[in-house]
Amino acid sequence: MTPDVKLLIAGNWKMNGLTPALAELKTVAAALTKDISRRTDVLLCVPSTLISKAAAFCENSELRIGAQDCHANVSGAHTGDLSAEMLVDAGASAIIVGHSERRADHGETNAVVRAKAEASIRAGVLAIVCVGETAQERQSGKTLGIVGDQLSGSVPDSATAGTVVVAYEPVWAIGTGLTATADDVRDVHAYIRRELVLRFGAEGYKMRILYGGSVKPANAGELMAVANVDGALVGGASLKAVDFLGIIGV
Ligand code: PGA
Repeated sequence: MTPDVKLLIAGNWKMNGLTPALAELKTVAAALTKDISRRTDVLLCVPSTLISKAAAFCENSELRIGAQDCHANVSGAHTGDLSAEMLVDAGASAIIVGHSERRADHGETNAVVRAKAEASIRAGVLAIVCVGETAQERQSGKTLGIVGDQLSGSVPDSATAGTVVVAYEPVWAIGTGLTATADDVRDVHAYIRRELVLRFGAEGYKMRILYGGSVKPANAGELMAVANVDGALVGGASLKAVDFLGIIGV
């Protein structure tokens, strides 16, 4: 955690969830009190197909709904794509950009991710910009170099603490059950903090840095206690309300 920075626990359902799965989301929404949301922002990034239904369910709750990707443009001839404005129109209040699965499956470069983050800011919602090294990059001692390149290439110059969150997600820890050790996380988060402060000055101290990669109720407390860890981006464990609430500490 970082002094005076509010935690953000964000779930990422990825390509999971048909309408009945909204029952889990309802359970999360019902459990979130004002007291919890005073210290922690809670967000679930559902598939685009569920955003408007999910947002309607959460209207009078402390749970926010987000999207998992967007196109950089406002509109145009881009079959199958969705603009940030469309996602906001559907009820999203945050958009994950540059997730490693997008970078790997869709060849998204830092420049593409940056344009998507800029689109999220343009649409008035939070951009959650993901960075993280592969196992091979870590083994060859390139972790900080890779994360540094992704940060400088993917985070827009206009970023502020209110518009951009950085999520550090080591690729080898995503969906594998492997979690980075608290020491690994401390080192990378400290590096990200330094880079953000170098680039954005005092604002860099306020920008939230999430950890992601096999976060579950059993390890969330230890990870959240690490310096400069301001929350979590949670994949698998966000699909079940009981697990996600366990991570939030409910
Ligand atoms: P995981 O996914 O929690 O299932 O490892 C994290 C993510 O990809 O955001």
